[in-house]
Amino acid sequence: MRIAVLADIHGNLRALEAVEADLRRKSPDLVVNLGDHLSGPLEAAAVADLLMDREWVHIRGNHDRQLLDRPFEVMGASDRAAHAQLDARHLRWLGSLPPTAEPLRGVLLCHGTPSNDSQYLLEEVRHPDGAVQLASARWIGGLLGDCGASLVFCGHSHIPRAVSLPGSVTVVNPGSVGLPGYDDTVPVPHVMEAGSPHARYALVDWGNGGCRVELIGLEYDWDGAAATAAAAGRPDWACALATGFALR
Ligand SMILES: [Fe+2]
Repeated sequence: MRIAVLADIHGNLRALEAVEADLRRKSPDLVVNLGDHLSGPLEAAAVADLLMDREWVHIRGNHDRQLLDRPFEVMGASDRAAHAQLDARHLRWLGSLPPTAEPLRGVLLCHGTPSNDSQYLLEEVRHPDGAVQLASARWIGGLLGDCGASLVFCGHSHIPRAVSLPGSVTVVNPGSVGLPGYDDTVPVPHVMEAGSPHARYALVDWGNGGCRVELIGLEYDWDGAAATAAAAGRPDWACALATGFALR
């Protein structure tokens, strides 16, 4: 069973089209998509139209929830930019998405952790300086709890990595399709950076007791995406899209 894992598209149509072109070459058995589909100043409506048309397993991320659970005036700038493009059909689709899913026995999809769409599963943000590091196996195991899965797919941090907890679970974050770097203020100010502008996703070969993970980075027109972000008044996005590093 070959599973393609996408996450954190963030309305980046150019990056998503590059991933789709690669998917056509690789022909996976299943495509799963872990949320934060639209938020940002890029092509939210076009990405929503594309995703709604795909027979993929989609779940909801924190930004998908935030497009629905608060008034426009109190949304963050990235959510507002996406919301302004969306119509009732797009919002109904977002509202239909579950926070987690188990598309195959033993395979769990979540955006952040199984119980929290806004918490990193594989990264720890150090207090008080905001340094980001790989979380300990004990910490990750505690967040997974008794989830019953042997393979967990998560997103949210935009950092591609595959982690195997001793004797139990493999956790894969494919990285972000559409936004390779950002800064955030919660739990303390920090940056997440892939360090290159590529569109990321993962291919996972699973079955017969084994698991082979391929973390993929694709070239695409990131300068075009960065120009769109700059024209929308988002130099932070323009920098991250063009370089994979947050604007500092
Ligand atoms: Fe997220």
